Amino acid sequence: MAKSNWLLYGANGYTGQLVAEEALRKGHKPILAGRSEDKIRPIAERTGLDYVIADLTDRNSLNKALSGIELVFNAAGPFIHTSAPIIKACLEYGIHYTDITGEIPVFQNIFSFDSLAKKKGIVLMSGIGFDIIPTDCLARYVTERVPGAVGLELAFAGLEHISPGTMKTMVEMIPGGGLVRRNGKLIGYPLGKGAKKVMFPDGEHTVIPILWGDLETAYHSTGVQNITTYMAYPNYMIRFLPAGISIMQKLFASKMIQRAAQKIIDMTVKGPGKDAREKDRSYVWARAVDAKGNEKQAWLDIPETYLFTAVASVLTIEKILALHPRGALTPAMAFGADFVLEIQGTKRYDTLPG
Ligand SMILES: NC(=O)c1ccc[n+]([C@@H]2O[C@H](COP(=O)([O-])OP(=O)(O)OC[C@H]3O[C@@H](n4cnc5c(N)ncnc54)[C@H](OP(=O)(O)O)[C@@H]3O)[C@@H](O)[C@H]2O)c1
Repeated sequence: MAKSNWLLYGANGYTGQLVAEEALRKGHKPILAGRSEDKIRPIAERTGLDYVIADLTDRNSLNKALSGIELVFNAAGPFIHTSAPIIKACLEYGIHYTDITGEIPVFQNIFSFDSLAKKKGIVLMSGIGFDIIPTDCLARYVTERVPGAVGLELAFAGLEHISPGTMKTMVEMIPGGGLVRRNGKLIGYPLGKGAKKVMFPDGEHTVIPILWGDLETAYHSTGVQNITTYMAYPNYMIRFLPAGISIMQKLFASKMIQRAAQKIIDMTVKGPGKDAREKDRSYVWARAVDAKGNEKQAWLDIPETYLFTAVASVLTIEKILALHPRGALTPAMAFGADFVLEIQGTKRYDTLPG
């Protein structure tokens, strides 16, 4: 397997740096890349890795960066702004494309290139981090045990600390409102409504429907027509969420406020530190149900989300470089429901412990 033939774009971001460290730990030598030499060079000097500068709006610089590369890992988000030019170039030159998006339009875009990716002999695999490996694999696991499942619910708990990029991506998505999948179609759902209680391996949490990549990807990886994705919130927030979100939706609809918010996030949000990454745990729940009410539930107990993302991303890259899957695929479509168990520190439960 070629451990040096891949490009890490967005290498100076919070998550990009974690992935670079994990790659080095496993003996990889990715080429670091990003749009700003001032930010990329110090990381290249610190890690001893080669680097290249590529502005995504300049096709020549992107082509140069991709020359001789077998796979691109894109850590530069929000991916709605960065993925399209890289995917286009990857399709043109026959290079595998991966990223860590959770954004539905990005997944929809890659699925639209399935045939072309197959023809070019490459894989387009978005969401190779916390979003969506655990939920995608668990969705596949429970639906495989309920033949003809008509409903799928997925929820996660434990996103305690978030990175600047995650917060910026969320702020961009808030004005669009919520979504659920019903009868195969994505339909609007009021953000902040629909709270319910779910048991997780660490106890009961209140969860609320949110926009999560699986609304698109689990539809492809399981074929289930009705999907709801939830996130756990602390109880004190639940009461204020509907009103709070409605105010935020109005505020963030203004481009000026969006820009100001993004700047404030860049200055103030640092992402979880090493202690939190090593100590925190995250939990995932999935439930599939058929038309007669037969159901299967399962849970995952996984490392902290950003640590999980770094470890899972490098493992996924290794598998792609070794197995060369083809087409627009989710991780579970390419590697099966048990793939998540290969990620160190992950446990799956069919019944809750204790
Ligand atoms: N799937 C998952 O579980 C998962 C986990 C972690 C993060 N994420 C997602 O990954 C993304 C990055 O998060 P983060 O916290 O690491 O972000 P971050 O620290 O803010 O870093 C963002 C990176 O993206 C680059 N970038 C942004 N817009 C760009 C553009 N238009 N052209 C070129 N480069 C651009 C930035 O370059 P500059 O510094 O030059 O601006 C920087 O390298 C977010 O969308 C986040 O939601 C997903």
